[in-house]
Amino acid sequence: MTKTRVLTGITTTGTPHLGNYVGAIKPAIHASQTPDVESFYFLADLHALIKAQDPRRVQQSRLEIAATWLALGLDTDNAVFYRQSDIHEIPELTWLLSCVCAKGLMNRAHAYKAAVADNEALGNQDMDKGVSMGLFGYPVLMAADILMFKANKVPVGRDQIQHIEMARDMAGRFNHIYKGDYFTLPEAVVDENVEVLRGLDGRKMSKSYDNTIPLFVSEKKLQKLVRKIKTNSLEPGEPKDPDTCTLFQIFSAFATPEETRAMRTDYENGIGWGDAKNRVFEYVNEHLREPRERYNALLEDPGHIERVLQQGADKARAEAQPLMERLREVVGLGRFV
Ligand code: TRP
Repeated sequence: MTKTRVLTGITTTGTPHLGNYVGAIKPAIHASQTPDVESFYFLADLHALIKAQDPRRVQQSRLEIAATWLALGLDTDNAVFYRQSDIHEIPELTWLLSCVCAKGLMNRAHAYKAAVADNEALGNQDMDKGVSMGLFGYPVLMAADILMFKANKVPVGRDQIQHIEMARDMAGRFNHIYKGDYFTLPEAVVDENVEVLRGLDGRKMSKSYDNTIPLFVSEKKLQKLVRKIKTNSLEPGEPKDPDTCTLFQIFSAFATPEETRAMRTDYENGIGWGDAKNRVFEYVNEHLREPRERYNALLEDPGHIERVLQQGADKARAEAQPLMERLREVVGLGRFV
């Protein structure tokens, strides 16, 4: 039986927060435990350089993200867990794909179009002001990530669907030009059941809004942040609407269905905001306690993380090297004898 291969990358520019956990990390770790699935999860650290040019920040984020996934129970015997930058075949494939990818396709990429639109709005003469080749060609690197490992399914956020379509486009062009079946066409998977967690101010939890709750802050800091979550001015005793409440949403992302139902009843019965915040803090804190301890221990032992990632890179390279060797021949860059 051939297993379905699931692959996704995490750009290493920030510190993981509750929204990342609920939206991406938890479902990915869960999926990696399914027997008929082969998971490839990697730190997209070459992508990070597009946005972040502070080496310490990139380095720290790579360490934190790796420690987070391991602390939350990613089993690296089931999943291939690696750093993109350790697989030198990926930038090599990026070049081969760049040479079959129409520039016009990249002109339509959302991130690039958004940058151009900003320049236009600012009245800049140069529409490409601030646009690096890295940003412009970002979908090609992403296509190489995916096509290198013949991924069938790529779990992503809605904003990334276009990039998967572009990867299919590049795969098709390459297969056509070099008359062969070199790549598998990937499919984007957007999980409709996974909620987009809201942040402190009620907007989507995101680093760019500065409204996040980092996953592994200290207990004290977590309490402080939960207290900061925006609520309305209803008094204790007045019924409250759980479905529009960020606090309730965060609670239900961690709690069992029964606990969520009980909390819903408490909302209807007019639980006070102070009480609600205490309960959400206690609950989330209890659930994060053990992984937080593991996380802190892992950060103290970067040598261990390094070894785990090197083992992952070995497994990834075992696939990337033979494919790349074949592709070199296919395009006319093979050995003479
Ligand atoms: N661009 C993705 C993001 O910002 C991260 C990423 C890089 C990725 N390479 C990938 C996701 C390959 C899926 C597959 O979220």
